[in-house]
Formats: sequence, C-alpha cells, structure tokens
Amino acid sequence: MLVANWKMNGSKSLLLEWIEVIGSSLSGDEEQDLIFCPPACYLSIASDLINKRNLNIKLGAQDIDPNLETSLTGGINGSMLRDLGCKYVIIGHSENRANGESNSLVNKKIKSSIKNGLKIIFCIGETFSQRKKRLTHKILTNQITKGLIGIKKLNNVLFAYEPIWSIGTGVIPKNVDLEKNIIFIKNKLRNNFRLKNAKVLYGGSVNPKNITILKKINTIDGFLIGGASQDSKKFIDIVKKTVI
Ligand code: PGA
Repeated sequence: MLVANWKMNGSKSLLLEWIEVIGSSLSGDEEQDLIFCPPACYLSIASDLINKRNLNIKLGAQDIDPNLETSLTGGINGSMLRDLGCKYVIIGHSENRANGESNSLVNKKIKSSIKNGLKIIFCIGETFSQRKKRLTHKILTNQITKGLIGIKKLNNVLFAYEPIWSIGTGVIPKNVDLEKNIIFIKNKLRNNFRLKNAKVLYGGSVNPKNITILKKINTIDGFLIGGASQDSKKFIDIVKKTVI
C-alpha cells in the first residue's frame, strides 16, 4: 500500500496534471495499491477524474468529523466522504494531534469511519524527545489502546507508524530501529486485540532515494508519503521501486 498524503497542498491544476501523469505512467496493477488523499476541497474533482479515466487508484480523505447528527459549520462527515467516492480516511495524523486532537477524539473518528464503511489509516508515532527518553513503546501502546477502545472489528484499520521527528525532516530511522518498532506494533495488536495480520505502513520523509533502503524491511506493509507524493514524477519513481 502506498498512500499519497498531499496535506494542505495542491491546486486544481496540479491535481489535473498529477492524475493525468499517474494515469498514463502506471499500469492498473501498479495503481491498485495506491491511496490518494488530496485536501477535502479537491476530493470531488479527484473522484470524477479517477472515474473518468477508469483508474484503479483508491481515494482517501485526510480527516473526518465524527459527528453525524449535529450541526457543525465546516464539518465533513463519513457519509459525505463516502458520497464523494472515498474508501479510506487518515486519522490521528501527528499534525492534527499537535492541533489538539486527543486519543479520545481519534477513537470517535475511527468509530464513525467504521460506521460509514470507510477504511482507516490510523497514524501513531513518538516525538523526538519521547524517543530520546526511550518512551517510544509506551507512547505507541497508549495511542493504540486509547485509539481503539471499544472497537472489535479491526480488519478495516491500516496502521501508519510515523515517528514525528521523521516527518518532513529528511531524517529516517535506522532500519533496525524501524523494524523493532513495526514488530512491537504488530505484536501489540496480535496480543491485545487479536489482530493476527495487522498491516503497518511507515511514514516520514519517504523519497525516491531512501525507498530502496526502506523497502528492505519486509515487516513494513507500505508507505505513507507526504512531500514526495505531490510531485508526480517522484511519486511514480517510488511506486515503480516498491510495487513488484
Ligand atoms: P513526509 O510526510 O513524507 O513529508 O515526511 C509524511 C506524513 O506526514 O504523512
């Protein structure tokens, strides 16, 4: 799985160009494991373009509002995202957590997404200072257990391990450390949530150069790509080097 997370970037013209280049450069097989998450305001156009070109790419939102019933100015809920053709939604990204999103809100968002038939890309990860204090596993445990309270069916949840100190910095963890943390997450999900085959992606400064190192870690099930995903050429390069 490769997730293109545009964050709060892009424009209508970039979107048109991106889909055109991706559509003409990749085969259906290469496209099938791609999840494209543009800003919410572009989801509708992206959905139309993907359908018109008959592409295999899945569409995802970058966030969701968990309230279905209340009136909320500016809110976008799961049924709207489904209506636009979204299959996935990113939840718990560190940039949103830094803006005050708590584990309990993350939990509500996950529940609301499941209710609306959306698959979830659930982001977890530690800060640089937490890592220095050797708190990584404690933080991951906390995010996983609080984020998943009361959720029994986890088959539609993908996990994205994103060390915060790696996001947008150009720095990636050493393969041994990354592998240790991915295995820790998988074991936690197996032991505490009876999820045998959890899919865990890695996110943080993935680019066409370091992908050749990262893809050697065979416990990683995919990548969440921010900055490098906006450039169609870089993204295609990553796809070609990853999808066999
Ligand atoms: P990055 O972002 O690839 O720009 O580091 C990853 C992410 O935050 O999703």
